[in-house]
Amino acid sequence: MDSFGFRDGQLYVEDVPVSLIAERFGTPTYIYSAATLRDHAGKMKEAFAELKPRLCFAAKCCSNVAVLRTLVQSGCGMDVVSGGELYRALLAGCKPEDIVYAGVGKTAAEIRFALGQRDGVEPAHGSVRLPEGPIGCFNIESEQELAAIASEARAMGVRAVAAVRVNPGVKAGGHEYITTAHEESKFGLPIDLAEAMIKRFAGDKHVKLSGLHMHIGSSITDPQLYVTAVERMIAMIDRLAVAGVKIESLDLGGGFAADYQTGDAPAPREFAKRIVPLLADRVRGGLRIVLEPGRMIAANAGILLTRVLYTKQTGARKFLICDAGMHTLIRPSLYDAFHFIWPVSVSPQHEPLRRSEALELPGLEACDVVGPVCESGDFLAKQRMLPPVTPGELLSVFAAGAYGMSMASRYNSHPMPAEVLVSGDGVQLVRRRETLADLVAHER
Ligand SMILES: Cc1ncc(COP(=O)(O)O)c(C=O)c1O
Repeated sequence: MDSFGFRDGQLYVEDVPVSLIAERFGTPTYIYSAATLRDHAGKMKEAFAELKPRLCFAAKCCSNVAVLRTLVQSGCGMDVVSGGELYRALLAGCKPEDIVYAGVGKTAAEIRFALGQRDGVEPAHGSVRLPEGPIGCFNIESEQELAAIASEARAMGVRAVAAVRVNPGVKAGGHEYITTAHEESKFGLPIDLAEAMIKRFAGDKHVKLSGLHMHIGSSITDPQLYVTAVERMIAMIDRLAVAGVKIESLDLGGGFAADYQTGDAPAPREFAKRIVPLLADRVRGGLRIVLEPGRMIAANAGILLTRVLYTKQTGARKFLICDAGMHTLIRPSLYDAFHFIWPVSVSPQHEPLRRSEALELPGLEACDVVGPVCESGDFLAKQRMLPPVTPGELLSVFAAGAYGMSMASRYNSHPMPAEVLVSGDGVQLVRRRETLADLVAHER
């Protein structure tokens, strides 16, 4: 379910007409639905309930503090990959012990921050101070990183809790840039190396190395890929047990697909149906499970609202030139990703009944939807069939809640867009649009 839909030809987010948000806050603007965020997190929890998982939202996909707070308040922990994301998670009210921390390049300062050092880290957003204490788990990606964490933990007089990120050798995910768990990947360690490392360091005084972590890719629609990977992880847990090492937690990562076109993504219960039976007995025996969904929760919980500045008909093409482009949403340029795009206000005959590349509606025309950036690769869609659109009209780019704003840039010195969070008929500006002065605020 998501809470973006047409009523009498007008696009609504929950109970708010999207055009009103454009009037109040301008464009380009990211709009999130709190109800959709809660619904998706709830469905994931419900589907995997038998495994009693700790659901850690992948903050990288949509890191606005208000979005994170909405998810924390519905019971999520956080999966972070930098000190910056850790800071956001803490500001959002996430308990440190509900945070897992991955990433191949953690610095000493980031490690200390994650171990509980808060000196020099200023609170923001009205919070008086950041919550105390170390995070729940470091997801370690190399032996040198383990040594760095051990060294910082020793200096601080604490014991870090950690898992090793393992590459189960499964190639998953739609695009070369988002497959992560194969042999040539920079992420994690192959099974044999990970196993050897755990055996060597399981008794470390400063790092409690008692977990396994995997993240096999993104936009995964085939549950079998998880099954194969989980079976390999279970075999590893059993071999380690024989060697006298008890694995207490297994983090399955994220990667669950989102509905970029209606019906693209299997429901969480479809994944759970295949994964839960593999692990249910282990969980009853004490194994703790972590899940790190990102896109599955946030993608369909957000749209990008953009205004058409100009239309241009050349010999071969019709262009809709918008105020959003690759700087606002890079996924089409970077991954050739599909986003359904539709005008915010349409005649009844053009209300889309589903989101799809090929809609059989009368009077559509092929358009290239492009941005203002000085790059030929700056586009949101190519040769997309759309109802007639005139300059000044608003377009909605759907399923933009994940890896949208969090990957946006100021390229060509365009200020960053605004972000709005809607709940029912309530509209909250959760990030104001940047000004020209903001663009140069850190320059001397
Ligand atoms: C370690 C880790 N966990 C979770 C995620 C979230 O992936 P997704 O948004 O596809 O669920 C990612 C994405 O890159 C990741 O690297």
